Amino acid sequence: MQSVELQLTQDQVSPDMAELVLTVLSASKTIAHKVRRGALAGVLGSAAQQNVQGETQKNLDVIANDILKEALLASPHVRSVASEEEDNVVAGNAQGGYVVAFDPLDGSSNIDINGQIGTIFTIYRAVDDAAADSPAQFAQQGRAQVCAGYVLYGPSTQLALTTGGPSRLYTLDTDGEYLLTQAELAIAVDCQEFSINLSNLRHWAPTTQAYIQGLQAGKDGARGKDFNMRWNGAMVGDVHRVLMRGGIFLYPANTQSKLHNGKLRLLYEANPMAMLVEKAGGKAVIGAQAILDVLPENLHQRVPVILGAANEVDAFLSAEGYA
Ligand code: AHG
Ligand code: MN
Ligand code: MN
Ligand code: MN
Repeated sequence: MQSVELQLTQDQVSPDMAELVLTVLSASKTIAHKVRRGALAGVLGSAAQQNVQGETQKNLDVIANDILKEALLASPHVRSVASEEEDNVVAGNAQGGYVVAFDPLDGSSNIDINGQIGTIFTIYRAVDDAAADSPAQFAQQGRAQVCAGYVLYGPSTQLALTTGGPSRLYTLDTDGEYLLTQAELAIAVDCQEFSINLSNLRHWAPTTQAYIQGLQAGKDGARGKDFNMRWNGAMVGDVHRVLMRGGIFLYPANTQSKLHNGKLRLLYEANPMAMLVEKAGGKAVIGAQAILDVLPENLHQRVPVILGAANEVDAFLSAEGYA
């Protein structure tokens, strides 16, 4: 089996970017090690402070953030860093060619129940006419990503990664190497599984409620087939399932609550996942617009996320009156 290092070379990734990806992966191994030891490593429980979005941070949110930030700021290739757990953009090396954004620990509510959690990351080229600590470094469409990936700390630790080519899957071996275990991920165009937090139903637009009720109606309804439902509470786990066996994942606009743009963040959740999904043949939209075409307005901006099987995303769009 092929190492991620060799695969990056074969994919003709530039030496600088390959080195940067390996820096992210090295940090992820440190996080994976702490996650695996759990209570023994003293990483569970909540921290005292809140992040800029008003979420109470878990200890592991802070620990994972610090591990990634420290590793990236030590890299000569990193001009700027942005994170879910950082209020502002952090300046790195003024000569660095890339900027990196990450959700250090996705699925925080799963930490203390030993459930699936992960790290999501994305890399863009640095913007030369903006300062290294400027949000302008990240005011780029998701289409401009040069690399997107996540590490899922599940029963095995897995890495899904694209550097512009296919989305590939690697598994972390006991000797600390990520080895290629699936060369090209592919999401079937049709599906019979959906993933959504149904407890929010009353907050959704009537069209969104009707779409989901159509899935629940099963083969006796207008859709003419049964759908299964899964919700992990961690986007990494839910999107991973979609990449592995298909399906549609939705965190729609909550028109009746304060999360009127949904919950997920464009920069370090929606965009990297959208790139991985598109590179696997799926679709990822906020509504009429593809996620990757959204021009960011601010660093921690939230967007609705609907992604997965192409035909099912189209069925959602037509239910919403977009197609
Ligand atoms: P994070 O733990 O990084 O703050 O992200 C949590 C997100 C995402 O992983 C998941 O899809 C969603 O929150 C779950 O939201 P609900 O609690 O509304 O189900
Ligand atoms: Mn959070
Ligand atoms: Mn997250
Ligand atoms: Mn997080």
